Amino acid sequence: MAAETGTGGHAAGMFKTLRTDAWWFEPLWTGLGFLIFTIYANYEMMKGDNYWFSNGAHGFGGYLSPFFSPLLFADTRVWAGAPVAESFFGEAPTWWPTWFPSISAALILPLPLSFRLTCYYYRKFYYRAYFMSPPACAVNPAPQPGKYEGERMLLLFQNLHRYALYAAIVVLGFLSYDAFMSFFRDGVFGVGVGSLILTLNPILLGSYTFGCHAWRHLIGGKKDCFSCDAFNHDKGMKKSYGAWRAVTWLNERHMLLAWVSMIWVGWTGLYVRLVASGAITDFSTWGN
Ligand code: FES
Repeated sequence: MAAETGTGGHAAGMFKTLRTDAWWFEPLWTGLGFLIFTIYANYEMMKGDNYWFSNGAHGFGGYLSPFFSPLLFADTRVWAGAPVAESFFGEAPTWWPTWFPSISAALILPLPLSFRLTCYYYRKFYYRAYFMSPPACAVNPAPQPGKYEGERMLLLFQNLHRYALYAAIVVLGFLSYDAFMSFFRDGVFGVGVGSLILTLNPILLGSYTFGCHAWRHLIGGKKDCFSCDAFNHDKGMKKSYGAWRAVTWLNERHMLLAWVSMIWVGWTGLYVRLVASGAITDFSTWGN
């Protein structure tokens, strides 16, 4: 009797495929990579210290970890070096529990996180890496609860992405301000290794954010048909098309920028932590 076959003609059963390449490699490294980042982000949030460095100077300028930006509150009960003067609302309220130390990190992280989790690329990667639904093209999925029906109800939640985009742009504004602030120490202009790292952060995040499919739809004038006859007679539409093409350049590199920008956020936070804790020296024009 002929063996039962799955979609595409390969044998039925989990991970069965006719593919002979290392199809499992991508879901493996993407799954592990995101897991490591999530663990590190939670570590930063729960630790709540060494997120600010100004070399003892108290005037304008310094390095702020992106995990704590914008700095809404500073909690000196958790970290004696918390920069109260730099925070928007000063000292954290006394009713806030110290076991959940960083009030600003707790409030701010959900914004960029919801943007990432609903991103078209991230959805593809975590459906594959974590839910194996399916793990790769032309590879049989892990057993699913019920019949495969695409995103269905989940799609309603994922629609949040177009609104999370606005939040991500606001956060990007704060990170750009942090980059600007990193070129000052006690009001004196200068450059440190940290200034360059903090500046690259919003540049990479901006390249990822403005390569977003939802942004491309917005900037492209929400037109669905550039080849229609009306397009050829409408100057406004031609301008929209120019913007759409520019964003498309970033959009085509969206996956790469998603990973590079995320890794850079982690690296920036780690760099500020290492400098603030005294583990490494930040070489700069201000001296040490
Ligand atoms: S689709 Fe990836 S950020 Fe919008």
